Amino acid sequence: MQHQHQPWQAPSEASGVYWVLVVLVGAGLLAFMLWALYGKMRPRRWTTAGYHALGALVIIMTLFTLVLYIIPANQAQQIPPTARAWDWKPGETIKDPGGSGLEGEPYRGYLVYLANGCTYCHTLYLRPEDLKTGWAEGAKPDEVSQMGDFVHFPFTMLGTQRDGPDLSIIGRKIPDMKYHIDHLVDPRKFKPKSVMPTYRYLSERDLRDLAAFLVSLGNEPQKLRAGVTPTPPPAEDPRIAKGRELYRSAGCVACHSVDGSPNVGPTWKGLFEHEVEVVLPDGTETKVLADEAYLRESIEQPAAKIVKGFQNVMPSYAGRFTDEELQALIEYIKSLR
Ligand code: HEC
Ligand code: HEC
Repeated sequence: MQHQHQPWQAPSEASGVYWVLVVLVGAGLLAFMLWALYGKMRPRRWTTAGYHALGALVIIMTLFTLVLYIIPANQAQQIPPTARAWDWKPGETIKDPGGSGLEGEPYRGYLVYLANGCTYCHTLYLRPEDLKTGWAEGAKPDEVSQMGDFVHFPFTMLGTQRDGPDLSIIGRKIPDMKYHIDHLVDPRKFKPKSVMPTYRYLSERDLRDLAAFLVSLGNEPQKLRAGVTPTPPPAEDPRIAKGRELYRSAGCVACHSVDGSPNVGPTWKGLFEHEVEVVLPDGTETKVLADEAYLRESIEQPAAKIVKGFQNVMPSYAGRFTDEELQALIEYIKSLR
């Protein structure tokens, strides 16, 4: 296997000499500054309080660097990797689990991913709150990113922007290199309104390696190496995805949780086909079954039945959604069992 050295390789992969140099340079700088402040070079015109303040600053900054960067960086290397931790080596290839016969090099794909700014729009970090807001697009709680997932990455590039979906488990969701290549070449072929740029300018090898990188994300490397095909989750009703999107974009997220946690309005988790205690406009209390008709009414005329224990603060969405959108919201609520 060919060994590659990247100029940006993480210090953990550097030799011991690197660390000796870091310590020598750091200690030298500190000694020089202390000497400059308190030793011979002490300039006459400064007040005594001034030197001490400056000296204290240097010492505090050194301590901060130690506590905030050097010690944690050292400890981070002792985090045990998870089973799905990404640990592909330069030169190592995988076969397309989708069965197209294509092969690609995930490590090199990682560099292509970085070089083409995928991190500007995509994260490789699924946060616990993403399950709540729907950003996780149906991911399960055990798929939330763990520290151990990142230990073998040559360098981390978690991303921040989230203009596109999180990709930390995309390889489990879509274990198909051919699909990823087609999507990269023309995202609008699959999602007509996608704002993702086309990557048709990439060489065939870049596309293959990038697709191999995508397929490697969220799958256990040992299983992919052994040729075990990951089972993608069952295909989701597209209306559910649409409803999840509306939940965010129409602002329901501000008042309703989807994981059972309390908010201004009742949670949607487990709502469908359960009995709800409601208060009618004339003050009588009764129980209703949360079927489709009830959900529809709750969205269009929230005041018709107020859920017991909640305030009548939900705005009416009558006329706001098309029939299709309303149905999508209902399908999404139905999926949250
Ligand atoms: C300008 C923002 C932007 C950039 C840059 C970008 N993407 Fe995307 N990406 C998106 C959006 C938006 C979507 C959702 C719509 C879609 O699937 O096309 C998406 C979706 C995806 C998906 C999921 C496809 C699916 O069917 O679920 C993958 C995989 C992906 N992008 C990979 C990449 C890679 C690899 C790069 C870098 C070469 C990249 N993206 C660069 C915005 C971006
Ligand atoms: C300002 C906060 C707020 C917003 C925004 C909001 N809701 Fe509500 N929602 C409530 C409250 C409070 C209740 C409980 C009182 C009631 O029944 O009106 C409720 C009740 C509901 C119910 C009945 C729940 C149950 O447990 O019986 C549904 C369904 C519902 N909302 C759907 C939606 C949808 C869909 C949206 C977005 C398009 C939305 N809500 C936006 C506050 C809100």
